[in-house]
Amino acid sequence: MAIKNQDFLLFTIPFFLLSLLTHGDPVTGGTWVLLHESIGISAMHMQLLKTNKVVIFDRTDFGPSNLTVTLDKCRFNDEAVKPIDCTAHSVLYDLVSNTFRPLFVRTNTFCSSGSVDPDGTLVQTGGDHQGERIIRTLTPCDDRSCDWVELPTPLWNRRWYASNQILPDGRIFILGGRKVFTYEFYPKNWFLRDNITLPFLMHTRDRQEENNLYPFLHLLPDGNLFIFANNRSILFNYARNAVIKEYPVMPGGVSRNYPSTGSSVLLPLRLTGEGSYNASKLPEAEVMICGGAPPGSHIKAFLQQIYVEASRTCGRLRVSDPKPVWVMELMPTPRVMNDMVLLPTGEVLIINGATNGSAGWESAVNPVYNPVLYMPDVDPGRRFLVLNPSRKARLYHSTAVLLPDGRVLVGGSNPHRTYNFTAYPYPTELSLEAYYPYYLNPVYTPFRPSILTVESEDGTVWYGRIFSVTFVLPGHLAGVGLSVVVMAPPFATHSFSMNQRMVVLNLVDVGRLSVFAYKAMVMGPPNANVAPPGYYMLFVLHLGIPSLAVWVRVR
Ligand SMILES: *[C@@H]1O[C@H](CO)[C@@H](O)[C@H](O)[C@H]1NC(C)=O
Ligand SMILES: *[C@@H]1O[C@H](CO)[C@@H](O)[C@H](O)[C@H]1NC(C)=O
Ligand SMILES: *[C@@H]1O[C@H](CO)[C@@H](O)[C@H](O)[C@H]1NC(C)=O
Ligand SMILES: *[C@@H]1O[C@H](CO)[C@@H](O)[C@H](O)[C@H]1NC(C)=O
Ligand SMILES: *[C@@H]1O[C@H](CO)[C@@H](O)[C@H](O)[C@H]1NC(C)=O
Ligand SMILES: *[C@@H]1O[C@H](CO)[C@@H](O)[C@H](O)[C@H]1NC(C)=O
Repeated sequence: MAIKNQDFLLFTIPFFLLSLLTHGDPVTGGTWVLLHESIGISAMHMQLLKTNKVVIFDRTDFGPSNLTVTLDKCRFNDEAVKPIDCTAHSVLYDLVSNTFRPLFVRTNTFCSSGSVDPDGTLVQTGGDHQGERIIRTLTPCDDRSCDWVELPTPLWNRRWYASNQILPDGRIFILGGRKVFTYEFYPKNWFLRDNITLPFLMHTRDRQEENNLYPFLHLLPDGNLFIFANNRSILFNYARNAVIKEYPVMPGGVSRNYPSTGSSVLLPLRLTGEGSYNASKLPEAEVMICGGAPPGSHIKAFLQQIYVEASRTCGRLRVSDPKPVWVMELMPTPRVMNDMVLLPTGEVLIINGATNGSAGWESAVNPVYNPVLYMPDVDPGRRFLVLNPSRKARLYHSTAVLLPDGRVLVGGSNPHRTYNFTAYPYPTELSLEAYYPYYLNPVYTPFRPSILTVESEDGTVWYGRIFSVTFVLPGHLAGVGLSVVVMAPPFATHSFSMNQRMVVLNLVDVGRLSVFAYKAMVMGPPNANVAPPGYYMLFVLHLGIPSLAVWVRVR
């Protein structure tokens, strides 16, 4: 039996089913579960690793955290509030056991950036003060042995509020930072001074409040980088240090980057549909940016306690078009410091943030407790769905990442200079929550696939080669609505998920093995521009309902 993939149905069916099976909110709105009232630190940065553990870290220069460590792990640090600091500022959270253990960071990781390399090692770059040029790695392990390692060769420039992107050749591109207008690469070479000025970073800088930090950075299928800062964007060839084109200014009179922090995602890259067997045909690429604040919002909030309403706008730009234009939409409510999390369904979860003010200390009010589901492929005007609220305010320094079981891990929020648990109404949050999107509701169990095995040469999904995925379904395979996607685990901080990426693979054929088991023949991504090398979560979706993911190595 061969079943042709009909991807276009994928995104309409779940809501069709919902209308049949449910009567509204408890299912579609998702649910929240408090995993820990305190993990001892505030989750300013999060990165999921291929071992199903999440590296979480904060900063080291504000005094003790709420997670005490053994005496041999004390820091003697002239930046710390106390001369001796015997608390942790990083943890490794284990999804399976819902437990965490302290990790040891030596120098300050405050407002830094990161990427996972092709072997699955987290490479974290920069921070503040003594940590501002340090590169640290964390190599995943199955026991309790792994911890942070500081590399001997530093970055050329300080990287505080910089952004990173893994490149097709496995190097990491590191862009910008506070008062730094250059990019550079990892790994470092003592003999190659590879820090190069990018004038775009100067030109987009607001003199009073910057508004171009943590620039949005996406690797496009043509191998170039999309770089967005403040309200402008370019297509950039990093190999030739050449700006290939400047895109139209994003409308709305809104700044989108720190401290007027909005967020950005590269929408799913689709290798399906007509011409999908043609490896030289590139998938279309579209970027969506939501939220942010009018310029001046940060200064008004910080100096005058005037909290300007944030932006309600989202803009979509088909960056691979020859003459792209921004198509603007309105979110249900204004939002600044919103995280944007790609779900395996290809939908975007807009979560965390505030209605008024900006990022930065003491600069926002009116938390937005309700996440919003954005459905990119339904009719305009019906794309946003307001979801069930959390009870926690997740403001400045909060994070959200997708987990391999389809949940979204949410943590952090500390809009204060130090940990402050009496600050009213937004105390420092050390809690960790999980948001369960609609597709995890038991009403969908009859449709949910389970992956048994992924069979590929050397356990690797090779570029342009077919591999197979064996899965079971509790019921019958519908003739339509089957797809296989891979998702890169991003580095989340300051509302931007670096390296977030979803590729909908080309399903070549599906055969039935037994009553419940099926085998899908799937084409690997065509090349490293479409899916840079590394570990990805692979999901099978049936009628729009995702399986649990398995990790695959793509190269
Ligand atoms: C952190 O520790 C302080 C001091 O022991 C305590 O007052 C506070 O409640 C703790 N905060 C949380 C969120 O556990
Ligand atoms: C590049 O790095 C060197 C060494 O840290 C530094 O002296 C120089 O100023 C940097 N160049 C730019 C353009 O920032
Ligand atoms: C873009 O941002 C710049 C700098 O903040 C501002 O001068 C300009 O008016 C903005 N343009 C639009 C269309 O919002
Ligand atoms: C494949 O796509 C490329 C680029 O779009 C095109 O030039 C070529 O003719 C296509 N080949 C086939 C066999 O369709
Ligand atoms: C948020 O912004 C709206 C619109 O400007 C304003 O009416 C409201 O008072 C602001 N809220 C706060 C708490 O400042
Ligand atoms: C914590 O917040 C409260 C109320 O917002 C404030 O009065 C207090 O000074 C803060 N504590 C510290 C240590 O900053």
